[in-house]
Amino acid sequence: MAKIKWRGGALLSPVPPAMVTCSHGGKDNVLTIAWTGIVNTIPPKTYISVRPSRFSYNMIKESGVFAINLTTKELVRSADQCGVYTGAKVDKFARFKLTKEPASEIDCPLIAESPLSLECRVTDVIPLGSHHMFIADIVAVDVDDSLIDEKGKLHLERAGLVAYSHGDYFELGKRLGTFGYSVAKKKKR
Ligand SMILES: Cc1cc2nc3c(=O)[nH]c(=O)nc-3n(C[C@H](O)[C@H](O)[C@H](O)COP(=O)(O)O)c2cc1C
Repeated sequence: MAKIKWRGGALLSPVPPAMVTCSHGGKDNVLTIAWTGIVNTIPPKTYISVRPSRFSYNMIKESGVFAINLTTKELVRSADQCGVYTGAKVDKFARFKLTKEPASEIDCPLIAESPLSLECRVTDVIPLGSHHMFIADIVAVDVDDSLIDEKGKLHLERAGLVAYSHGDYFELGKRLGTFGYSVAKKKKR
């Protein structure tokens, strides 16, 4: 494989096109965030990187909370819309027919149509350059009960989740393996 060397760029892929909700000063808002991920397991911590020019930036900074709502194939058009319209001009919940659902631990609505939401409380804000990184504790997780089987196992593979790769949205596809499958012993028949 011949490779061409480019200068450094934000080309990690795929990433989640997360629908991030926030609330401040009597206003609720949603923006789409691709620069997000998990940064610690115990305690569970996540981050979102937000440009200070976003309407949501001050809402999150002032309230100290936000929620990450996972995007499904049914939600992907709304996720794109929430990523191009600003809450300064548009009530995105109303315009894009997203239903507000109360969170249990934070004062910020969740998106009822999303199968899994992470309720987050900001612990650190790190200015990085174009974006500021909000590092947050994940203080609660809200999961669609139809994705949990009788043994309590979560089946996120049934949720129709979407990935974002270099400008395009994709529905997750075929399962190729399970954690540790490469070293697991074959079961005797
Ligand atoms: C797929 C996608 C991913 C995005 N990722 C980010 C991101 O990680 N950080 C960011 O600041 N803006 C990101 N944006 C842009 C914001 O979502 C967009 O500017 C939005 O309109 C801001 O809304 P607001 O002004 O209501 O806060 C993304 C947009 C899309 C469509």
